[in-house]
Amino acid sequence: MKNAIYPGTFDPITNGHIDIVKRALRIFDHLTIVVAQHYSKDLLFSAEERKELCELATKNMPNVEVQIWEGLLAEYVKEKNADAIVRGMRALSDFEYEFQWGMMNRKLSMDVEIIYLFPDEKYIFLSSSAVKEIALHDGDISEFVPEEIGKKLKERLAKSHTREQLK
Ligand code: COA
Repeated sequence: MKNAIYPGTFDPITNGHIDIVKRALRIFDHLTIVVAQHYSKDLLFSAEERKELCELATKNMPNVEVQIWEGLLAEYVKEKNADAIVRGMRALSDFEYEFQWGMMNRKLSMDVEIIYLFPDEKYIFLSSSAVKEIALHDGDISEFVPEEIGKKLKERLAKSHTREQLK
């Protein structure tokens, strides 16, 4: 059985991420979405909340589980013995970051291959920040996140201190 992991911050998970999850499941038997702490990003949801949102978005996918990881991804891979890491590649601009990230992880003795998948072209320009920004200005995000995620996002943004946080 081949197990892959899909790491990211998922603040929140979007249809673009879900598209990558579905593509990964065509190749791997089991996928673990790894919700990482990201200390250099100003996040809207806590790790526990991001995990819950990922679980909600993948509730009909029995071969998907979600875990939170606070340390180095290289340590996670060693501990869990994953067969591969899956990452999405949206545009050429992602390449440089991903290349550096992949090389640095090799340096950290991560002995696993990283597989890059292209999302559907309608998600090429999607990012969690863009979704948050559109929602903040009461724009239509129905194309970008599942309905339940959109609802939770709007509930969170309705709290005025969060609106300030994103401005
Ligand atoms: N569809 C939509 N959006 C996508 C996407 C897709 N298919 N793929 C990526 N994105 C977006 C994300 O929404 C995110 O948007 P945002 O910046 O607006 O939040 C952005 O692309 C990048 O997100 P992500 O894939 O989550 O990468 P990241 O740079 O935030 O985090 C980790 C990458 C979590 C894997 C990395 O920080 C990590 O490895 N952390 C663990 C600690 C560690 O080992 N550090 C050493 C690294 S060498």
